[in-house]
Amino acid sequence: MNNRKVIVKIPASTANLGPGFDSLGMALSLYAWIELNVSDRTEFQLHGDQMNGLPRDKTNLIYKVAQLVFKEAGVNVPELSISIYSEIPLTRGLGSSASAIVGALVAANALIGSPLTDDKLFQMATELEGHPDNVGASLFGGIVVSAWDGERADYVRIEPHRKIETLVAIPAFQLSTEKARHVLPKQISMADAVFNVGRSSLLVAALASGQLGLIRHAMKDRLHQPYRAALIPGMTAILEQAVEQGALGAALSGAGPTIIAFVDADSREKTGLEQFLLRTLKQEGIHAETLWVPPCVHGPQITLEDSSKQSAIPLMDRIKGDVTA
Ligand code: HSE
Repeated sequence: MNNRKVIVKIPASTANLGPGFDSLGMALSLYAWIELNVSDRTEFQLHGDQMNGLPRDKTNLIYKVAQLVFKEAGVNVPELSISIYSEIPLTRGLGSSASAIVGALVAANALIGSPLTDDKLFQMATELEGHPDNVGASLFGGIVVSAWDGERADYVRIEPHRKIETLVAIPAFQLSTEKARHVLPKQISMADAVFNVGRSSLLVAALASGQLGLIRHAMKDRLHQPYRAALIPGMTAILEQAVEQGALGAALSGAGPTIIAFVDADSREKTGLEQFLLRTLKQEGIHAETLWVPPCVHGPQITLEDSSKQSAIPLMDRIKGDVTA
């Protein structure tokens, strides 16, 4: 095992999809890469701006999550050489922490011969993240419908319809999930609960059956978006007008501040929609970047190698050409 090296490429994700708070997620074609090597001493190569300020010792999340896998499998791998690169913006609602958790779980498991099942990794990821929506999407790819009772998470994966394209508007400010969850009420009315059960169920059925015209009615929410609106100026106007501006539907991505629009691949209004998003945010004084990020239809891609032969090639050279953002 000493010569083993693994590289894992993990997709980003968007959670909630509007009404499916803490239960719906979809993987997106933005990625993080994690390389793990069994080593004599623990060391880190953290590449890119996203890594600034992250710990380079055994308190690093990737190291700690990898050790959980080894412990669960009853294997002793105390020292790891870890390289990470991520193009997923941090604390913007694109599942960067879920990608890190899933990447560490999958990479550590592959490094020791994959003794843990995907289901076990999903349970561990959900426990670590506190909800299954982002981790499920990053782990299984596509659209993932999940439910967690605090002990067990169950899921069904749906293949994204080939005509669904996704546009994200990523505001140039960070919003922590903690802050965005703190503004949510402890209780909601029965009317709002019924509203969301209906919309979330309809959305899942529409996505599963390819009835894309229903998305505009289904992608509505009363559980979290109204309460988070004050944290993301311009969001309410965008969600109200996105469909008339050419979207199939729009939602806050995860806890925000990124806003995601589902768009028909054949739409002729893509440029207009993109300009509408940027203009509306700019009117509120918010600079944002727009990206067309296709749904990612697969989970982590794993490459296992004998490090004694290929260790000379650094991670950044390996993934050059694969990096999109
Ligand atoms: N479902 C979560 C939320 C996603 O909306 O708070 C963010 O991690």
